[in-house]
Amino acid sequence: ESLVILISGNGSNMLALLEARSQIDRVIVISNNPNARGLEIARKYGVETIVLDHHAFPNRQTFDTALAERIDAHQPKLIALAGFMRILSDRFVQRYQNRLMNIHPSLLPAFPGLGTHARALQEGIKIHGCTVHFVTPKLDLGPIIIQAAIPVLPGDTEETLATRVLQQEHRIYPQAVCWFMEDRIIMNENHVEVLDSRI
Ligand code: GRF
Repeated sequence: ESLVILISGNGSNMLALLEARSQIDRVIVISNNPNARGLEIARKYGVETIVLDHHAFPNRQTFDTALAERIDAHQPKLIALAGFMRILSDRFVQRYQNRLMNIHPSLLPAFPGLGTHARALQEGIKIHGCTVHFVTPKLDLGPIIIQAAIPVLPGDTEETLATRVLQQEHRIYPQAVCWFMEDRIIMNENHVEVLDSRI
């Protein structure tokens, strides 16, 4: 069974997924950014890569349609957003309901959107972290699959927080994807339940 990973940049979460892909038969990486560093990493791993530059499309809908075509050609079981920096149209999101996942660098529902670490510092919160969730039309607010928390330490900066949160992202994203590929994630009235969960 195949997994499509969508990236725009560094691809460190993508790499974490590639390294953990024991029960995944095939991975396809799609980037909207032709210069994404993650593309090189994927190629080194011998993974099929597709570049779909959003600048080549007149609007979001035409880009999303082209993206859906590329995805559907591979009939993936799951689509994982890994630092994919384009907002996807409601139509696209609904097409992949309950099989489109995202990793977000905050403990949702706190701090949806961008700049999460700066906002966390500004608010003076003491616990920060990351969340893997299913994507719904409400940006960053779909059903939560797994979260990891870290303490905010005295002297923390955006960079130090980002580094420690990213380490946790690399742990929980492969976990969530593995659960999904093993059919262990079930939806219970919009809440996620993990069957026989051993973290
Ligand atoms: C991660 O912090 C992810 O949560 C956020 O963007 C960053 C992407 O990093 N959406 P990478 O491309 O996976 O290294």
